[in-house]
Amino acid sequence: METKLIKIQDSEWIKDEELAEAARIIREGGLVAFPTETVYGLGANALNEDAARKIYAAKGRPSDNPLIAHISCMEELEPLVKEIPEAGRKLAEAYWPGPLTMVFPKSEIVPYGTTGGLDTVAVRMPSDPIAGRLIALSGVPIAAPSANTSGRPSPTTAQHVWQDMNGKIEMILDGGPVGIGVESTIVDVSGPVPVLLRPGAVTMEMLEAVAGQVEIDPAIQGPPREDLRPKAPGMKYRHYAPKADLTVVEGSPEAVQEKICALVDEKIKAGEKVGVIATEESMQAYPEGIVKCIGTRADEESIARHLFAVLREFDDCGVTYIYSEAFDTPQMGQAIMNRLMKAAGQKKILV
Ligand code: TXA
Ligand code: MG
Repeated sequence: METKLIKIQDSEWIKDEELAEAARIIREGGLVAFPTETVYGLGANALNEDAARKIYAAKGRPSDNPLIAHISCMEELEPLVKEIPEAGRKLAEAYWPGPLTMVFPKSEIVPYGTTGGLDTVAVRMPSDPIAGRLIALSGVPIAAPSANTSGRPSPTTAQHVWQDMNGKIEMILDGGPVGIGVESTIVDVSGPVPVLLRPGAVTMEMLEAVAGQVEIDPAIQGPPREDLRPKAPGMKYRHYAPKADLTVVEGSPEAVQEKICALVDEKIKAGEKVGVIATEESMQAYPEGIVKCIGTRADEESIARHLFAVLREFDDCGVTYIYSEAFDTPQMGQAIMNRLMKAAGQKKILV
């Protein structure tokens, strides 16, 4: 299949003509990758089971891992869900459109092919103007996981999507690099107390400010466990693992830099090719190895935005070991460390 790459000139002033073909592809059961504010999504008609099946095939993803249905306005939520619990309504009012996904009891029209066999459906209203307009023009909710091959980092540019999806899908909409860089916060609002299933840019603090008490699914912390049946089935999969052996080093800046320098030196002497994930503040502290800057600690959002791209770059340059600083930053820290620790297989050295 030939994959069309369409560059959207100005996402603030989108012309409907630019998205008409993409919307038609979605309506007719095809696949279109598109930007959202979190990561690029791989979209298909959420109400069409055959279209959902194509997403799993293109990603090489197990089909019991449920998809998120993306909507463009509140009116599009009602047909998808049995009810909208109070907490869900309040959170939608506060954070939609935006990087928040909520899990509701599903209605009859949502096929099990989209929900991975679950009686619940995850719904998100993205704030990216290209995503919103595409959904509205398609006239159907769009099921979209991150547009990466299963096991690779989520794509934050159209070029990442191209690397993974060229030849497998009808179209990629290029809206430039995403703004946030880690996937949406997921909260299950189908039970009596909302449960955080995946941390993201909408933080626990922000959720509790609106919905009162919020619980945290134990599967978020620590390695995947066979005996825990996770509420978010995606969490049982190993997820992305870099080609290199990644370890996170945590402690005071000086101690972390000293430890990483020692580890890098030791591995290089042993003939390994070593990468370091550093910040603008710490770059100069590492004289050896391939040192990549993830962002600046003065702007934690810059760290979230570059995380997946840096991991992709290390996959491409053939390092065998990577050492990363920890990024327990005030707001985005939980989301960043959740992705980084997963990539590290939970390996962390405390200094
Ligand atoms: O930011 C995002 O959410 C991006 C963009 C494209 O919107 N999408 C995304 O989708 O990250 P994906 O497929 O990579 O993550 C979907 C995850 C599943 O792995 C699962 O953990 C959770 O959402 N999920 C989906 N439906 C669910 C349900 N009914 N119950 C519990 N968890 C669900
Ligand atoms: Mg994903």
